[in-house]
Amino acid sequence: MKQTQWWKKAVVYQIYPRSFNDSNGDGIGDIPGITEKLDYLENLGIDVIWLSPVYASPNDDNGYDISDYRAINPEFGTMADFDEMLAQAHARGIKIVMDLVVNHSSDEHEWFIQSRKDRTNPYRDFYFWRDGKNGKPPNNWGSVFSGPAWEFDETTCQYYLHLFTRKQPDLNWENSRVRGEVYDMMRWWLDKGVDGFRMDVISAISKVEGLPDGPIEEGDLYGNFVPYAFNGPRMHEFIREMNREVLSGYDIMTVGETPGVGVEEAKKFANADMSELSMIFQFEHVKLIDENGIKWGDKKICVRELKRVMAKWQNGLEGKAWNSLYWENHDQPRSVSRFGGEGRYWEKSAKTLAVCLHMMQGTPYIYQGQEIGMTNTIFESVRDYRDVEQINAFREYTEELGVSEEDMMRWIAKEGRDNARTPMQWSGAHAAGFTDGEPWIKTNPNYKQINAEKQAGDPDSIFSAYQAMIRLRKKFDVVTDGKFTLLDPDSDKNFSYTRETASEKLLVICSFSEKPITFAVPDDMIDSKILYCNYSPAPSATKELALRPWESVIFYKKRVFTDK
Ligand code: NOJ
Repeated sequence: MKQTQWWKKAVVYQIYPRSFNDSNGDGIGDIPGITEKLDYLENLGIDVIWLSPVYASPNDDNGYDISDYRAINPEFGTMADFDEMLAQAHARGIKIVMDLVVNHSSDEHEWFIQSRKDRTNPYRDFYFWRDGKNGKPPNNWGSVFSGPAWEFDETTCQYYLHLFTRKQPDLNWENSRVRGEVYDMMRWWLDKGVDGFRMDVISAISKVEGLPDGPIEEGDLYGNFVPYAFNGPRMHEFIREMNREVLSGYDIMTVGETPGVGVEEAKKFANADMSELSMIFQFEHVKLIDENGIKWGDKKICVRELKRVMAKWQNGLEGKAWNSLYWENHDQPRSVSRFGGEGRYWEKSAKTLAVCLHMMQGTPYIYQGQEIGMTNTIFESVRDYRDVEQINAFREYTEELGVSEEDMMRWIAKEGRDNARTPMQWSGAHAAGFTDGEPWIKTNPNYKQINAEKQAGDPDSIFSAYQAMIRLRKKFDVVTDGKFTLLDPDSDKNFSYTRETASEKLLVICSFSEKPITFAVPDDMIDSKILYCNYSPAPSATKELALRPWESVIFYKKRVFTDK
């Protein structure tokens, strides 16, 4: 099948179905709810929906624990609802990319039910079963969601590995039957007409033989599995096999979620030769907030560091592999709260974040609500949180690590995943117009000020800024193809860069400051044409440009060549 790489020009919108739109009043978003909102997405201008999991699941981790890969979770609707959504999306020229969660399954998946029955079951080797050591787990690894990464199972007196919750046992990719089952299932969805996959923690599918103990930092309760579970020895081999067996047969888009992967590995994963995936999600820019690898803390983002990391990826993959561009997803806090300014400059900074990201090279992702500047939420009680990661971390930090409840509540409010999972704010009506019933998680109290109804028809809204960025990407090839050069790398007040091809040049200037600043426009861009500004009146490209707080400007020039 010819690979057209259509995804290079595409903009993706991520839907977290549980929180997007509820059509039947049970408080849980659903598939018919998504279908109802396709016109809204068409109006925004996106090309692709990445759908977080809608498969059958006991919901220990909101669908990232799948018990049947070929069934729809009844909370979300039926397979007929899914087919209808896919047909309706395709009728509008919108593609649908599914989440593929195959580093682990649910412990309620038939494979695991069989596997745990006895040591000689044909499915035993679908998972990692090991004997304990002196009454302890087989190694010292801790799970991503607190506690040990091993669970003892009384039926056969062995432990099984789970990098995430105990209800998410890791699949053993060393077993070719596991891989065969996964590839069959992928073909089944692709033959149904879906347009690709986002691959959950795909960088963890190859573990180092022997599963050695991981390093333990002072103060840690468990060893770190990362050196032995991410970027494992057979990772690329497995992905190449998947590419040969499945992906190469379809003109689709694939994006690997690859924590722990740096530029060099990314060049293999997202290589222009298309031997593996279309692109990956790198984590370096969102992990700048971490201290010693831990996300719970008071650290703030340093703009200079953010620029350094983004530029490293832009330049590192240039001409060799393809970038994905994102500020947000269902695992990250809201970008306007994290990178922008929530108060007086909420609107300006949300627009500037859109400009800054969307003019880079790569495929941009918009997470539901980002296009209207949804912010982090504040819950008064830990009981209001729903995310297994936050709930477990709160318990572990306050009960075992001596952190005060006050500190932990502040850190969760800043970095927790539930910030992204509050209901989509459609209007100022009950529950932000998300449901007629009681939402499964509390609505952000600011929905009367921040909602889609207010913004969709307003030419000055954040929504309109996203529409404008999508239009610019479609209109000017330089947005897709241009070489990226970071300007002013040492400034922590502006994030500015150029993009250029032989025939076009863009200058993208983004103030990340609440104070007025000045910016020196490069000589060759003086008097260039303005394509966008988040203030009115827009400035012209003079040598010393005075930037208003969180101002963003895009200048454009057709390049003229004279024969010597
Ligand atoms: C990454 C997903 O994005 C996250 O939501 C999930 O908890 C873990 N992988 C485990 O599947």
